Amino acid sequence: MESYLIIFGMKTIQLFSVGLLFLAGMASCTQKQQGSNAHVEEKINALLSQMTLEEKIGQMNQLSFNGNVEEMIPFIKAGKTGSLFNVVDPVQANALQRVAVEESRLGIPLLMGRDVIHGFKTVMPIPLGQAATFDPQVVEEGARVAAIEASSTGVRWTFAPMIDIARDPRWGRIAESCGEDTYLTSVLGAAMVKGFQGDSLNQPTSMAACPKHFAGYGAAEGGKDYNSTFIPERRLRNVYLPPFEAAAKAGAATYMTSFNDNDGVPSTGNIFLLRQVLRDEWGFDGFVVTDWASAFEMVSHGFAADRKEAAMKAVNAGVDMEMVSGTFLEALPELVKEGKVKEAVLDEAVRNILRIKFRLGLFDRPYTDESLQVMYAPEHLATAKRAATESAILLKNEDDVLPLGASVKTVAVVGPMADAPHDQLGTWAFDGEKERTVTPLQAIRESMDGKVQVLYEPALVCSRDKNRQGIPRAVSAALRADVVLAFVGEESILSGEAHSLADLNLQGAQRELIAALAQTGKPLVTVVMAGRPLTIGDEVEQSSAVLYMFHPGTMGGPALADLLWGKAVPSGKTPVTFPKMVGQIPVYYSHNNTGRPAGRTEILLDDIPLEAGQTSLGCTSYYLDAGFEPLFPFGYGLSYTTFRYSEPKLSATELKSGDVLTVTFDLENTGRYEGTEIAQLYVQDKVGSVTRPVKELKRFTRVSLKPGEKKTVTFELPMEELAFWNIDMKRVVEPGDFNLWVAPDSQSGTPVAFKVVE
Ligand code: NOJ
Repeated sequence: MESYLIIFGMKTIQLFSVGLLFLAGMASCTQKQQGSNAHVEEKINALLSQMTLEEKIGQMNQLSFNGNVEEMIPFIKAGKTGSLFNVVDPVQANALQRVAVEESRLGIPLLMGRDVIHGFKTVMPIPLGQAATFDPQVVEEGARVAAIEASSTGVRWTFAPMIDIARDPRWGRIAESCGEDTYLTSVLGAAMVKGFQGDSLNQPTSMAACPKHFAGYGAAEGGKDYNSTFIPERRLRNVYLPPFEAAAKAGAATYMTSFNDNDGVPSTGNIFLLRQVLRDEWGFDGFVVTDWASAFEMVSHGFAADRKEAAMKAVNAGVDMEMVSGTFLEALPELVKEGKVKEAVLDEAVRNILRIKFRLGLFDRPYTDESLQVMYAPEHLATAKRAATESAILLKNEDDVLPLGASVKTVAVVGPMADAPHDQLGTWAFDGEKERTVTPLQAIRESMDGKVQVLYEPALVCSRDKNRQGIPRAVSAALRADVVLAFVGEESILSGEAHSLADLNLQGAQRELIAALAQTGKPLVTVVMAGRPLTIGDEVEQSSAVLYMFHPGTMGGPALADLLWGKAVPSGKTPVTFPKMVGQIPVYYSHNNTGRPAGRTEILLDDIPLEAGQTSLGCTSYYLDAGFEPLFPFGYGLSYTTFRYSEPKLSATELKSGDVLTVTFDLENTGRYEGTEIAQLYVQDKVGSVTRPVKELKRFTRVSLKPGEKKTVTFELPMEELAFWNIDMKRVVEPGDFNLWVAPDSQSGTPVAFKVVE
């Protein structure tokens, strides 16, 4: 991890600079790759010159393992597949690999893939939760843990990170994303790539990363999975592509195309994305895989007439490997014969695939060590716990009800998520085991044993349970307790792929449960575990405190127990805007301004006098029922302690392109607990050749402070990072006036002005 020292009169602190780390990381990976290139290219060419057309096409075909080794053998022997996924037993992996290496004509090893999204056995918080940590270090460590565990079974390729910008919580896959922000996703996506791939792909514990879904998938119309997107090129380049570019610079080995068609062109057949942007502009030299059957799905899209045309369009657009639908295997021999796909195009695809196999060291070390015992290593569990702890977002803490003190002798633990080990793992936890997952109930019982009496009444069987019969028992437990801890949210199956929702209120009878508990008058601490931000305005109002955790993984329980009793202090911030109601969506902080931005006061339905005149509302841009504010803005989160920001000082107020702006401010812990604040730097380009977002996150850092402690914090912002794709579709910094905020969230702070001059 890169870091640098900043020395100031008041304090010397080791400050982790996200921005600089981000750029430094990029440079080192690219250099490493270049060094090994010539040698690898020679080997690739030598191998390619021996390959038949069928063998080349075989490398471009990926199959999902159905559990039956015998059935796979003939395919592998005949060189009809270059990659298998979903093999997670090292004995089977080695058996299959042995056929490829020892019994196929050229002995080209298989690349074993798997969706290792947020952990293998040890499950980290879902990516949206990891994003709430704003901590690239813990995110990188989490990916490293996943790689160490998964690679021990022979998996050397993960279909992650998922770095789709997600601004619609109806979309179930927001759970797999880093949320709504381009910069945060770029930094954390690059950290995941580094964690998965390690220092060098060649290490046995490294997995090739696969940033996905390239591109625009998160903008699915209406938040409905797989839906079409309509993202104009400028927005694509300014908002959706930068995380993918950052991943390329971090050395990502592979990319996956997305399911969606953007403005009528499915990504799997999108020459602009796959050739112009990825290869020509970013210099990517790894390989591109389709998403599951997305080559064939171009037929359903109405972009290809049949399987043959789908194969042709995918390969000619720049896809190198097809996941499962088999159209390449079936149609490419004929397409090459007919001259519709040039053999040179196939050669390039095979080169790209072999390049990654060489870089992974698969030719030298095709097998995995079956005796490795790495699952659930104590340090892996520690990383998972740290990530879960840092991911918790304190949304409300009236009268400092949290942390719970010694006067709390009896707690009522209620709600369907208190003891739901499967569900707290979240989506895409194929290999996680509920038996090894520690729930809040277990952790509270264990850590508070003898100190606190726990009255457990789940009230509901699961988050969708509509049966209210258990609610009176929960109320009775609440009445006998000093504090009520209510665990609500979503089962893991309610988010993730193909699990979009049109209603984001708590499901089942959970709303009634919270309302009934609130009626008891006991302090009510609501803990939400979910795959997305839910519309919980009423529950926030009814609760004394609210802690939000996106599904927190294996160690969610111990993390929560620590947080509730103050052994840990919440520091997470929202990586996505929380809407008040679904009708507000899309709602995200980094929007452009209308010509009639909403004013300061929300005049809502009930404020409107009878027979008010048509223009009585000021004609600004907002909803009469929801207003213009979200429930919680991006970057928001409280602590048990409080922080004071001084006014930021700028190294200059007039800068030229090429300059670096240094922003300095003091951050002071003004409360009673040691805590960590995530300080954020936002910038607004006030006037552009095209309209610009009202604010954009440009830097963030985690700063830990003891009570009363003050540190001087510095952000360095190269003016290059103010560049955007302008009216001429050029990436430039346009001179002019800027505003800058240093703030605890995207809605606070006072702007400071600076200028960029020619
Ligand atoms: C479809 C999903 O969209 C993708 O994210 C995943 O990696 C593949 N299936 C493989 O499971």
